Amino acid sequence: MKAAYITQTGPPENILYGEVPIPKLGPTQCLVKVGALAVNPVDTYIRGGMIPMALPTPFIVGCDLAGTVVEIGPEVTRFEPGDRVWGSNQGLLGRQGSFAEFCAIDECWLYPTPKGVSDEQSAAIALVGITAHLGLVRDADLQRGETIFVHGGSGGVGSTVVQMAKAIGARVIATAGSDSKAELCRRLGADFVVNYKTQDLETELKKIAPAGVNVWWETLREPNFDLAMGALAAGGRMIVMAELEVGRPFPVGPFYVKGCLLRGFVMFMATPDEQRDCAEEINRWLAEGKLKPTIDRVLPLSQAAPAHRLQEESTIGRSGVLTGKIVLKP
Ligand SMILES: NC(=O)c1ccc[n+]([C@@H]2O[C@H](COP(=O)([O-])OP(=O)(O)OC[C@H]3O[C@@H](n4cnc5c(N)ncnc54)[C@H](OP(=O)(O)O)[C@@H]3O)[C@@H](O)[C@H]2O)c1
Repeated sequence: MKAAYITQTGPPENILYGEVPIPKLGPTQCLVKVGALAVNPVDTYIRGGMIPMALPTPFIVGCDLAGTVVEIGPEVTRFEPGDRVWGSNQGLLGRQGSFAEFCAIDECWLYPTPKGVSDEQSAAIALVGITAHLGLVRDADLQRGETIFVHGGSGGVGSTVVQMAKAIGARVIATAGSDSKAELCRRLGADFVVNYKTQDLETELKKIAPAGVNVWWETLREPNFDLAMGALAAGGRMIVMAELEVGRPFPVGPFYVKGCLLRGFVMFMATPDEQRDCAEEINRWLAEGKLKPTIDRVLPLSQAAPAHRLQEESTIGRSGVLTGKIVLKP
């Protein structure tokens, strides 16, 4: 089969596209013929060696996928050949990745694809959807009627958080870096959008939410904790989930006086049961049309290396060139 893989960590050009053996099935695994997969920033960190992990050689990159089960191991109970599925959490903690024509995946990481939802859509929502759900429901306990601020509302994670927060019934404030991205955030359900390039965030937040925000969702790698603690309401919760590039001063005073909570997490450490809980609600929202993945472009799998370069330039280099996910098709 064709796959995008590396034999050693390094720049995007280390990704080779070529023939590798079709994986052998373990007893609890399904062999999935991949219809679509999506690129995530974490794929680029693992490929680049920024997150050191034991990797098989060759290592097929990628976390997300969607496709059709073609074969099952003897102990698989949830799926049958012919079932359409999506999943994430591949290419991590020693597992092979998803950027291939076929993947052998433990059934605990797979979910049924709802009718009417394409492989492109379900692959694009996989990792960001589970991340957004874990943070909003398990960790921030966002409630209907509360106000949430999403820093980075047009990104892969942020655009998903905006839609889920809306589906939960919250009032949503988001940032975007251009008029067209602000318009996208509004279409996704944001009640207020602040253009961080042309408006002063602190001033705007005071106008929009004078009593403070209940949840601050930070997607940036350089959080401004002073700004966040100033903007949180009493009992507010702040979610951090992007790697801090450098240490940041933390305003302990307002944090404890307002009784706030700071919660960090990484989706790939969540248990299969926790991730399945997220997937079930994601499927319901996808089927109801409340959740629509933001897809920037669809490319052939052979373009995995330039796709990694683009993702890196956008997320780490802040080129702003992407609006949402890059989807690849084998
Ligand atoms: N912990 C976890 O489990 C987990 C899961 C998924 C992702 N992550 C991490 O979360 C981060 C975001 O991921 P992603 O997929 O959403 O990345 P992304 O699609 O590249 O989005 C990045 C966002 O940051 C915004 N942004 C850039 N500079 C900004 C600034 N100065 N002020 C306000 N917004 C700014 C961009 O806005 P514009 O484009 O509008 O300028 C864009 O919306 C990454 O570091 C990723 O590794 C962690």
